[in-house]
Amino acid sequence: MSITQRDRDLGTGYAMKPSTTRSELTSVGRGTPMGELLRRYWHPVGLLNDAADIPRKVRVLGEDLVLFRDRHGRAGLLHARCCHRGTTLYYGKVEEDGIRCCYHGWKFDTEGRCLEQPCEPEGGLFKDKVRQPWYPVQERYGLIFAYLGPAEKKPALPRYECLENMDDGEFVEADDSSIGGGGPVIIPCNWLQHFENVVDPYHVPVLHGSFSGPQFTNMMASMPEVRFEMSPRGVTVRSIRHQDDGKVFYRVTEAVLPTLRGAQSARCAIRPRRIDRLDAADRRHLVPDLGCAPNSTENSGGT
Ligand code: FES
Ligand SMILES: [Fe+2]
Repeated sequence: MSITQRDRDLGTGYAMKPSTTRSELTSVGRGTPMGELLRRYWHPVGLLNDAADIPRKVRVLGEDLVLFRDRHGRAGLLHARCCHRGTTLYYGKVEEDGIRCCYHGWKFDTEGRCLEQPCEPEGGLFKDKVRQPWYPVQERYGLIFAYLGPAEKKPALPRYECLENMDDGEFVEADDSSIGGGGPVIIPCNWLQHFENVVDPYHVPVLHGSFSGPQFTNMMASMPEVRFEMSPRGVTVRSIRHQDDGKVFYRVTEAVLPTLRGAQSARCAIRPRRIDRLDAADRRHLVPDLGCAPNSTENSGGT
């Protein structure tokens, strides 16, 4: 390369500095700083129905896993590659008490214990020494949460008062449409690129006011006055928009570390929805929503 001052002055792409990668926040593998931090929390990895008798591929914190539900109703989350010869358990067969690898038939329960080795002498004399890597899961709010960290650091799965004490007409809705409804199930971006967006209210009138069409209301189509505040949980964003009719549209969104975002629905006239999304930290975004009554109309004032 022979970049000259003239190239720099012209600002052509040839004068660009080579890209570099800072991975402290973006890498989520085991042993990385952020990967370890995220492995101290529970993360949503699927909807309840995603765990079924057909194994489902999920990718969580950079790990390829298989989610299933045995016929006793227990959800299991195992590493995708069979510990025998590495065949993917995605093609496994779910049975009453576990999942059976399609290659030599080793069967694992939801905690990775090897129950059967049909090709081994006497059904597997050493099967008790084998453990398919697995992760604990819990089900709540229509979602399956997994914990991928060290056992001694495992926290309680959080409960959210606003998702448990419902007023009339309120309900919890879990779906995987992401981005406030209508988005793709899996977004091919780094988790941080998506999560930092919740504290970026300035893009709303530009992006959503033009490209997104009816995704948000007209009330949000103007540039807001914004206050950012650090909170014990993360960052709170207060956006104020003065409407043409003299009303003030006041919207509070909150980024709760490490991956939760709280945002009231601009379309819901009943009351703010305090948790809009629980985002998975690795490309998959799940949405437990506090919904509004079906006949609610567009909000006509601040909330
Ligand atoms: S590779 Fe799974 S049982 Fe052999
Ligand atoms: Fe947005």
